[in-house]
Amino acid sequence: MCGIVGYVGSRDAVPVLLDALSGLEYRGYDSAGVAVLNGRGVETRKLAGRVAALRDLVRRAPLHGSCGIGHTRWATHGAPSERNAHPHADCTGALALVHNGIIENADLVRARLERAGHRFVTETDTETLAHLIEDAPGATLEARVIAALARVEGTYGLAVIAEADPGKIVAARRGSPLLIGVGQGEYLVASDANAVLPHTRSVVYLDDGDIAVVTQQGYRVFDSDARLQQRAVDDVAWDLETLALGHYPHFMLKEICEQPQSVQSTLRGRLLPAQGTARLDGLNLSPARCARVQRLVIVACGTSWHAGIVGRHVIEELAGIPVSVEYASEYRYRKPLRLPGTLTVAISQSGETADTLEALRAAKAAGSTVIGIVNVVGSTIAREADGGIYLHAGPEIGVASTKAFTSQLAALLLFALFLGRARGLPLREGRRLAEQLGELPDLVARTLELEPEVRVLAERYADAPNALYLGRGINFPVALEGALKLKEISYIHAEGYPAAEMKHGPIALIDENMPVVCVAPKDEVYPKVISNMQEVKARGGRIIAVTSEGNGDLRHVAEHQLRVPACLPLLSPILTVIPLQLLAYHIAVRRGCDVDRPRNLAKSVTVE
Ligand code: AGP
Repeated sequence: MCGIVGYVGSRDAVPVLLDALSGLEYRGYDSAGVAVLNGRGVETRKLAGRVAALRDLVRRAPLHGSCGIGHTRWATHGAPSERNAHPHADCTGALALVHNGIIENADLVRARLERAGHRFVTETDTETLAHLIEDAPGATLEARVIAALARVEGTYGLAVIAEADPGKIVAARRGSPLLIGVGQGEYLVASDANAVLPHTRSVVYLDDGDIAVVTQQGYRVFDSDARLQQRAVDDVAWDLETLALGHYPHFMLKEICEQPQSVQSTLRGRLLPAQGTARLDGLNLSPARCARVQRLVIVACGTSWHAGIVGRHVIEELAGIPVSVEYASEYRYRKPLRLPGTLTVAISQSGETADTLEALRAAKAAGSTVIGIVNVVGSTIAREADGGIYLHAGPEIGVASTKAFTSQLAALLLFALFLGRARGLPLREGRRLAEQLGELPDLVARTLELEPEVRVLAERYADAPNALYLGRGINFPVALEGALKLKEISYIHAEGYPAAEMKHGPIALIDENMPVVCVAPKDEVYPKVISNMQEVKARGGRIIAVTSEGNGDLRHVAEHQLRVPACLPLLSPILTVIPLQLLAYHIAVRRGCDVDRPRNLAKSVTVE
């Protein structure tokens, strides 16, 4: 969940590496470092802290070289410190290595290497790799890397440079994303495409087991038996401008405000109102195949898991297929049942979340067809799924997922409509849903007009020690999502709960200091939510109600009301979540939190 980068070419690598690390910082940001190869051998600068601090360090102690590597860290083994920051060296200091992933047999290998005389200076699992390569036989760096990796258990995306092999970067991947950026007489390696975009849009996605040798003359990809591999060159769909903050103070706010366009992009070219269905060519699922589906399993993590619960509602409602929604981290270690007619859906913004990827692989191994609902084009989940739906929501940089969530819901509605129509959903119902989906971007834009009201509420509740979010039916997962947003960026403890569940315990938490956000649009469970809100009010809870426009009858229970445009109940989560995103955002800003880089988190969780 770190970000790694490498550059080899005719330019000074250091400014290229520092800029790329700034673009990768959403992957981990507790320490950073760079190393270059030059006439003086391998030179390294690293520290605990942000890339901005590393820039200052390099300004004070400059280094130069046309071949180098860099790293921004999310610590797994060894606390964030200068010593544990990457790049790591071997005993001689003539080799430097950066790594994203976890070496699971590091302790064992380390003990063996220490007995053989190697001196370790860090608490990291990664340093083991540097000493393993130093210890390995082979005339070339790539030969030594291949030999070393044969003794490794775990996951890695790594890049290494060595004095003995000037002008060369050797990179390898297993389990963590890695790609090559193909430039004009220069090449980069990076954890994701954002880092290479300032230099090229041509990338080569490496597969698990690939080892790449990159020099100024070009790149070669080998497998773990040193056999040459062919890898396609792809074009990155988005440009630098979409990566820029523009006039926004934070990427999170930019991405919240982009939702009319991102939802539009998810729907574009996929709605067939006349046929009352959706066109989803990437699914590779024929209507006949859809008709044979007997069971659907959704696997995901975090916000994507919340989208999965909404997905269950819409798929069961429109297609009549029983759906289970699984935490990928739990599902991957359960014994997947070999049930015929099972379709598995892996939902992931990044397409690189390790638990979701492994759950996908477990489902495939159990004979299930797997669909990926993914935002990042060319990501591992997208490439390993049998078919899928790209969100086309554009890059999501803010660690707290926002626009990807609403696009995931739009994609799940398209998917449910497609499945439903293939399984007998009447044309009239399909048309009605397709028409309403077509109006969604405007409804989202109107919902964003609530921002000034939300900002006032944020002022009022920014110092609350806790918060409770309640919802029912299709809006229960919205309550979960609202609570997660507040937790992850403002560090206020918050819980999302099915409103009816509240009286089985959490109601004990309620008093006049507890803000209670109730997601209560006008739908079939609305009357029930009202009773739950009265139970909260009776205990002095401070109710913020998110309800439908034109619904005037909450004055007697809710202290504050935020009204979203009226729409079909199946679409309501896409609107009701927006004021909750804004509330978390403005509370976090009010508390002076680093909204885009919340503590202890990272955008793409590529380790277990
Ligand atoms: C959400 O704001 C978090 N960043 C996190 O829960 C995220 O949803 C989770 O890590 C899953 O990520 P994915 O969608 O990229 O797989």
